[in-house]
Amino acid sequence: MRIRIPEYFTGLLTYRFEFIYLARIFMLVGLYAAGLPHDRAKLSISDIFDTALPILHPLIAAGSNRCETLKSFFGLTYQQMLEKNATVEELSIDLITKNGNIKYNLTATSRLKRSLGSDKQIIVLVHGFRESSDGWMVGGVAPELLKVAGLKILALDGRKIINLEYFRSSTYTRFMGEQLGLFLSEIIKDGVDPMKIYLIGHSLGSHIAGIAGKKVQQQTGRLVGRITALDPAGPCFGNVDPSGRISRQDAVYVDVIHTNAGLLGLKEPVGDKDFYPNGGMTQPGCILSTCDHSRAWEFLAESVNSAKHFPARKCENWTSFKGGFCSKNSVSYMGLESKAGDPGLYFFTTAASSPFGLGPTGSG
Ligand SMILES: *[C@@H]1O[C@H](CO)[C@@H](O)[C@H](O)[C@H]1NC(C)=O
Ligand SMILES: *[C@@H]1O[C@H](CO)[C@@H](O)[C@H](O)[C@H]1NC(C)=O
Ligand SMILES: *[C@@H]1O[C@H](CO)[C@@H](O)[C@H](O)[C@H]1NC(C)=O
Repeated sequence: MRIRIPEYFTGLLTYRFEFIYLARIFMLVGLYAAGLPHDRAKLSISDIFDTALPILHPLIAAGSNRCETLKSFFGLTYQQMLEKNATVEELSIDLITKNGNIKYNLTATSRLKRSLGSDKQIIVLVHGFRESSDGWMVGGVAPELLKVAGLKILALDGRKIINLEYFRSSTYTRFMGEQLGLFLSEIIKDGVDPMKIYLIGHSLGSHIAGIAGKKVQQQTGRLVGRITALDPAGPCFGNVDPSGRISRQDAVYVDVIHTNAGLLGLKEPVGDKDFYPNGGMTQPGCILSTCDHSRAWEFLAESVNSAKHFPARKCENWTSFKGGFCSKNSVSYMGLESKAGDPGLYFFTTAASSPFGLGPTGSG
């Protein structure tokens, strides 16, 4: 038998390094959280990331491999949690009405199913890290959707699940997506047309929506009609296999709005149409990446009742768009009314404050 001390040592050193690295992230995040007012709603993914950014940067850049190494060290990979029989019992779903939200347990939904009926379009809003079904994103988008007739609006509520640290939360998105997918598969089997199901996810919620779409396909052989991914979370989801994140295969039509690409959001195109407002990395009027990351749902919210605010120009990249080299290319509207067809990358500019849409001026 060979003695394999050198390898063993290398492994140990790597682990030791990763441990120190991770401990520093947690310490920073802990220090930051301790200094915050005790108002949970005000604490968002990006507040944390902005604080820990200098340390998190290499992690974001290194992509999923490093993330998986770190997770496996703490027993937080999907496989490890599966073996521990992790469940997401605390998951619920809200029916949003003009008179407030009605909460349902996602594993006991017979009452909800009756109230959904089978003829209306169903929209499911899926919030991101440290958010909830009555947080910022749902609070911004749902009131606009309520003005549109003929919709049933739901919001997944995972506030007790993706409210811990980011590594654990990024794994839990998979369990949450599967649970949501099982629920959607049930209503499809009960007669709801999958084309009438439309998922809108922000940040980690984009991946939850994607996983739900995959589950529906696996369970029913059908695809949900549409998924809109609002700045899908980047950390731990860059360069991963499409089976572990939102992808263009998860719905008949997948549109993506990138507003903090390469930092809190994914940079690479993952949908049929990928919109990069203002180039997709930073947004005018924003200083913190919190703000850039949230603009995705602010743009969508504005588009709900202003369908022509965001015409976008098809182009290979931002440099070409800005240089005016794409001004003869096709235009496609970003937002609720976005339609399938002519897949690719789309660019436009916006104002620095609401209303953001510049109409034709923004599409070059
Ligand atoms: C997980 O569930 C399986 C099947 O129910 C069981 O055999 C196994 O012991 C459980 N594992 C843990 C860690 O509880
Ligand atoms: C939802 O229902 C399941 C099974 O009926 C139960 O175990 C779980 O605690 C319930 N969750 C909530 C939040 O009520
Ligand atoms: C942008 O696209 C053009 C045309 O395909 C290409 O020549 C150029 O190198 C690209 N620029 C960047 C920064 O990728």
